This record gives sequence, C-alpha cells and structure tokens, in this order.
Amino acid sequence: MRIAMIGTGYVGLVSGACFSEFGMSVTCVDSDASKIERLKQGEIPIYEPGLNQLVAGNANSGRLRFATDLKAAVADADAVFLAVGTPSRRGDGHADLSFVYAAVQEIAHALSGYAVVITKSTVPVGTGDTIDRMIREIRPDADYDVASNPEFLREGSAINDFMRPDRVVIGVDSERAKEVMRRIYRVLYLIETPIVFTDRVTAELTKYAANAFLATKITFINEIADLCEAVGADVHDVARGIGLDGRIGRKFLHAGPGFGGSCFPKDTLALVQTARDAGAALRIVETVVDINTERKRRMAAKIIDACGGAVAGKAIGLLGVTFKPNTDDMRDAPSLEIVPALQAAGAIVRAFDPAGMAEGKKLLADVTWCNDAYTAIDGADALVLLTEWNEFRALDLTRTRSLLRRPIFIDLRNVYNPGQMAAAGFIYESIGRPALAAEEG
Ligand code: UDX
Repeated sequence: MRIAMIGTGYVGLVSGACFSEFGMSVTCVDSDASKIERLKQGEIPIYEPGLNQLVAGNANSGRLRFATDLKAAVADADAVFLAVGTPSRRGDGHADLSFVYAAVQEIAHALSGYAVVITKSTVPVGTGDTIDRMIREIRPDADYDVASNPEFLREGSAINDFMRPDRVVIGVDSERAKEVMRRIYRVLYLIETPIVFTDRVTAELTKYAANAFLATKITFINEIADLCEAVGADVHDVARGIGLDGRIGRKFLHAGPGFGGSCFPKDTLALVQTARDAGAALRIVETVVDINTERKRRMAAKIIDACGGAVAGKAIGLLGVTFKPNTDDMRDAPSLEIVPALQAAGAIVRAFDPAGMAEGKKLLADVTWCNDAYTAIDGADALVLLTEWNEFRALDLTRTRSLLRRPIFIDLRNVYNPGQMAAAGFIYESIGRPALAAEEG
C-alpha cells in the first residue's frame, strides 16, 4: 500500500510517520522546499514526544520519504491523504480552504490509476463533495474516490493517540474505497479498535461534533468552578463526583483558564458557522465560544485581584505560555490574552516555558524570558502557574516561597493542594476551590 501524505504540518507529519510504522510506504509531500530538506536531514519542525525517533526509524528503513514533487508521489499512490492547514478565515470564522483546494487541483492533474483521495485535516461539512466535483471537472477520465478520515489526535500524545485510538471514523461512498481504507488500518483491526464506517458528510460532521462536545464539557466544568468559588465548594471533588458516573466520564472535566490550541477554538467557531449557513442553530456551541473567550480575558482580572487589586510596577512570575504541556504550540493559548492584559495594568512579566519560549518571543512583547522556573520566580511579587508542565508540578515550595517577594501563588491549573500550599505559607488562589489562609512560618 503506497500513501502520499500532502502537507507536513502537525497532522500530516504524525499521520505519515505512523502509517509508515504500520508498514505502509509513505511519501510526505510539502511545497516548502526548505522544510522538506530539513526533514530529510532528520530535523523535526515541531515538538512532539517520540516523533523524532519514529521518523528516523521509518526513514532509515526506507518506508518514509519526504519530497516536494506532489505529482510523482500522487501518481504512485493508492491513497492520497490531504493534511494541509485549514486556518480560521479572518472575520467570519469559516475554515479557510485555499490550501486544500490548491492541493486538490494539483492532485487531480497527477492522478494515475485508481486512488482514494482522503481528507485528514478537519474540513467543513460538505468539503468532500466539493473535492469530488473539482477532481471530476479537472479530470473527467480519472479513476478515484473521495473519502473522509478525520484525525482525533491530541498534541503532546499524538503518536499514542494515532497508534491506539479509541476509534477510527471513515466516510466513504464506495466498496472499493472502503477496501483500501480497511487495508490501511489493518493493524488497528488486529488490536480490535472500533472502526466506524459511514458516509462522507457524517464523518466530516462527527469530527466537529466530537471537538464541540469536549469544548462544551470543559466550559461546563469551568462555569461550575466559578459557582464553586461563589458558594465555597470544591470543583475538584465535584468533577470526581460527577465523572465517576460512566454516562458522564472523568476525562475533560479539569477546570482551568479556558481551552486553547489549534482545534477547539477554530472548530467550535467553524461549526457554529456551518450551522448558520445550513439554517440551523447550535446555541450551546455558540455560548461555549463566547464563554471561553471571555474567560481567558477574565483570568487576568483574577490575577490582579489576587495581587490585591493592582499590579502596576509589580513583577509577575509566569510558568508556562503554551496552551497545554508537551507542546511548543501557542495557538489561542490563554497566555496570549493574559500577558498583554497584565502588562496593560502595569505589570512586568517574567516568564519561563520548557518548550514555548521561541514561539512566545514572537507572539508576546516586552516579556522577560527566563532560563528556568526559579529565575522567573526570583523577586516576583506573585507567581502564576499557567501551563501544567510536569516540572511545574514538583516545584521546591520552600525555595519558591523564599524567592518570591510576596508569597502569592495563583495556580490556574489546580496542580497544587490548597491545604498543602497554606501550610507552606502561600497565599494560594486556584480555580473553583476554597482559598485557605496562609499559615505563618
Ligand atoms: C484536541 C482534541 O482533544 C483532539 O481530539 C483533536 O484532534 C484536536 O483538538 P488538543 O488541542 O491537542 O486536542 O488538546 P487537548 O488535550 O484536547 O486540550 C485542548 C485544550 O483544552 C487545552 O487548552 C487544554 O488545556 C484544555 N483542557 C483540556 C482543559 O482546560 N480541561 C480539560 O479537562 C481538558
């Protein structure tokens, strides 16, 4: 089975490397020649645990190749996966499909012999039909099918998510395409992964519905956390108490500063637009989008409150700027709202992130970037834990307390225990849990 993977972004690179690990012969194609050159040298442009070794191993075995020549890769392929970017279009929240359509035109010209063209990037409902029509118009003679195979992997655990998924969703409209997809995922059949075959539109919608549901679940617990703060309850226990009900489930009930990343913010917006265009309304998802945007802004006010109502001239130590741990990705990260708001209120921000500082330097101005957590903490008037990297879960609390000018610790990820923090002498604020008075020490 020969696969052409068009696009070497996050999804393309991970999927290409994993398919080659499944035993397929994969060519990853990108129009960016310097990127392809770097990949050929074994340089991985993104931070993802395990990806380096996976790419190196499969490239050495000859199963994984990198190329700029789309035509040759497609002509040779049984399956052509589209994994190019689909950013949010400025203004209207629709996904921008210009990269997808540009790739489809090239693919159409290059098709030779039967191939299945598969969307792997998240594309709006109905895109498969448009792709099908485009190829037919350009190449009435071509022998192909168009399928949808959305990707559910999470950054930071992408390889495991790809290799051992809860399920695979595939939208096809012919037996022939179904057979090709079965062969590609043969390895997953062996470990009894459920494979949901459906039609194309349903597969496309399933991806958005999954992301919108998870974003809603997070937003729900975030609002419950606010209520916990108002009535003196503990959101951690509420989440556990409801999550143990199998109908609700324990995952994605972690209250925090609001969701970010490359998928939830973009996909919830795009789904709302799709519903509007179809004359339907998705009021729950619309509200989730609004609440989450507002929440990220409100986090700066929470920090300022914890600092006694003003931060002008104060130094704030910030741990973590990426939207979550184990990634260097800062797309729609809460830090992008919080840092400028603190600076506008006159604060001096001293930040450290294990992988996000290169990106952070591009996206955030006037931040003092520190070489490690304790340098960021040193002399700060308050400490904010914003991304729950493992190394921030095991801070030396005595050292932290002695380095801080004032022992204010604002934990926006509920990493620490309020009792333990009060005993350690911190004025500790977290999300949705009662604050305890710091013990003298
Ligand atoms: C998500 C989906 O999980 C994945 O299936 C899809 O393919 C792409 O989008 P990702 O964006 O990589 O993956 O990260 P995820 O771990 O889902 O976290 C998204 C955001 O939600 C982060 O900002 C995270 O901090 C936040 N989150 C997640 C919470 O605030 N609470 C939770 O309980 C879970």
